Amino acid sequence: VDQTYIMVKPDGVQRGLVGEIISRFEKKGFKLTGLKLFQCSKELAEEHYKDLKQKSFFPKLIDYITSGPVVCMAWEGVGVVASARKLIGATDPLQAEPGTIRGDLAVQTGRNVVHGSDSPENGKREIALWFKEGEVCEWTPVQAPWLRE
Ligand code: GTP
Ligand code: MG
Repeated sequence: VDQTYIMVKPDGVQRGLVGEIISRFEKKGFKLTGLKLFQCSKELAEEHYKDLKQKSFFPKLIDYITSGPVVCMAWEGVGVVASARKLIGATDPLQAEPGTIRGDLAVQTGRNVVHGSDSPENGKREIALWFKEGEVCEWTPVQAPWLRE
């Protein structure tokens, strides 16, 4: 079963969108396995976004992600990585479809309220990076038989 790392970025926390964003994934039918409010270090932000190190916006991105607490989440489910990316919408919120989180709740790439892993490998990598041993819980939702035949 796939796992993805979803994070409400500091703008999402400051704007009071945490509940709304968690709700989108809950209502879809994915399983929450990790959740915490967290002030991340510059080092952790740089490691998380290391593939973007060469980009001109990298320093601004690191300042943004470390500018206040984020909400770290681990979500599990068949196809959750690609589906979460669809629920989140395009990187540029002005291009993101209405109905997506960024399409409904944001206006600029540099303040796009939420992160989602871009592959199952990165999902695992990012959950291991942001959560300590014991912070991710395995559990069986009672609704499981009503979500999948
Ligand atoms: P994440 O889920 O956060 O990884 O976004 P993404 O996968 O849709 O985009 P990508 O991984 O390419 O970029 C990571 C983040 O860097 C984006 O979500 C933006 O917050 C930021 N970013 C990307 N491109 C730009 C840009 O051109 N300018 C600025 N200011 N920020 C950017
Ligand atoms: Mg990305």
